[in-house]
Amino acid sequence: MNYSNIIVTKENGYALIQLNRPDVLNAINIALMKELVDALDELEKEDDVRCVVLTGNEKAFAAGADIKEMADASTVEMLRRDMFSRWDRIRKFKKPLIAAVGGYALGGGCELAMTCDIIIASESAKFGQPEISIGVIPGAGGTQRLTRAVGKYKAMEMVLSGAMITAEEAKQWGLAVKVVPNEYLLEEAKNLAKTIASKPPVALQLGKEAILKAFDTTIESGLEFERKNFYMLFSTEDQKEGMKAFVEKRKPEWKGK
Ligand code: CAA
Repeated sequence: MNYSNIIVTKENGYALIQLNRPDVLNAINIALMKELVDALDELEKEDDVRCVVLTGNEKAFAAGADIKEMADASTVEMLRRDMFSRWDRIRKFKKPLIAAVGGYALGGGCELAMTCDIIIASESAKFGQPEISIGVIPGAGGTQRLTRAVGKYKAMEMVLSGAMITAEEAKQWGLAVKVVPNEYLLEEAKNLAKTIASKPPVALQLGKEAILKAFDTTIESGLEFERKNFYMLFSTEDQKEGMKAFVEKRKPEWKGK
């Protein structure tokens, strides 16, 4: 497929999607979001893609939803655009998604990173929910995912003051798993993608699904859900192969079945 707002490349076992509106710090407009969702739809179907890395450039992962595109919109227009249904699609992407964040990850940019499963930041990364300074609040999950990631008080401070946090703070607060020098950001994210891509795909999918379940259920039903996914994996060839390979002291060969 041909895209003009993103660049998609496939490597061995994983894919890289780079947001590509550098002139506006990768502001997320409707066209970019549509392409991103189309690309994820395609990559979800491709068996040789087991993990996806999402990144921007050194200046910005993404500086938010495109303000110019919504500045004059009315409530009814915003409702009709229903831009967040595409964000819901990303949330439901079945394969692991890694955000490699350099530069600004603000507003919708921070929310996009948080919609991913793992965030790796470079030293230049800055995270924030500055919507309050332009008269709104986060709309793509910021108040919910940030609060779950960093807790009520830090989320309140960020959302109500619009202040940015550094990569190091994001790591200390549990938002980013790692901070690496700028020049190593992609290498680090790709290495993690390679490691994940070397694992059995059905277990990856069910593991991701079970962790996400933890955010909208009780511990009791979350544990039940996890258990069922665990038992379900015993009907895969990869479980038989994984355990047999362990016993035979050799490397497993995954079939994705
Ligand atoms: N939407 C549209 N354009 C944007 C943008 C955005 N979110 N962020 C940056 N740009 C554009 C600027 O308008 C500018 O374009 P021009 O050259 O045509 O003027 C270009 O990108 C470069 O930006 P700056 O000149 O502002 O760069 P800077 O280095 O001086 O500042 C910044 C960088 C602090 C990130 C600043 O650009 C900024 O504050 N951006 C907006 C951040 C923001 O408020 N994000 C939230 C958006 S709302 C949202 O995301 C809602 C939601 O929950 C989904």
